[in-house]
Amino acid sequence: MNVISADFVSSVAFVEDCPKEPLPEFAFVGRSNVGKSSLINYLVNKKNLAKTSSMPGKTRTINHYVINQTKRPWFLVDLPGYGFANAPEKARKKWEKNTREYIIDRKNLMCTFVLIDSRHKPQELDSDFIRWLAKEQAPMAVIFTKTDKLKPGVLEENLELHYAMLSKFLDGLPNVFISSASERTGATEVLDFVTQVMKTWIAEK
Ligand code: GTP
Ligand code: MG
Repeated sequence: MNVISADFVSSVAFVEDCPKEPLPEFAFVGRSNVGKSSLINYLVNKKNLAKTSSMPGKTRTINHYVINQTKRPWFLVDLPGYGFANAPEKARKKWEKNTREYIIDRKNLMCTFVLIDSRHKPQELDSDFIRWLAKEQAPMAVIFTKTDKLKPGVLEENLELHYAMLSKFLDGLPNVFISSASERTGATEVLDFVTQVMKTWIAEK
């Protein structure tokens, strides 16, 4: 898929305030600072569509962007990160609750992409969230981020550990993608997957 256009639609706290158009929707979630907003900007080829920051906890609301508005439009959604954020515990818990309600209630959510920092071995925050998605039977895929920061061989080692973690909670492995927003790798595969899921959705309607 080519991204012809990408436009900001809304930034809201609660799922009930999200856009009403029944477009297919794909969301990006993951720990604070994992690179969600950077990946989104790279996917849509716009520098500052989603706000990024080196300080964790930048994205605090559910942000909708409409992709390819005039031909086969879909929503791309940037979500607040879970885990460490530069904010009080109470506020963090509130965003996490809003994110979970969004994932459960959003009817046209085709897939939640869980982003995992490829530099780290599996961490409880990620596995807890993935376990929760599996329990809710929420469709998901995984994107490993920041691969440019790794020494050769480390990616493969970490991936093996993550695959073992994922297969504990899921029936088989989910779709997995490898990316670097800095080096601009991985977008084609993610966008092709979006196309494929949308085609299935249209065929089933
Ligand atoms: P929150 O909104 O706080 O949850 O963070 P986020 O997951 O949206 O992360 P964001 O995209 O704001 O990126 C966090 C930091 O990581 C920024 O300093 C980015 O420049 C950096 N970063 C993001 N992606 C990459 C990448 O692929 N490679 C490298 N080297 N740095 C990256
Ligand atoms: Mg962000």
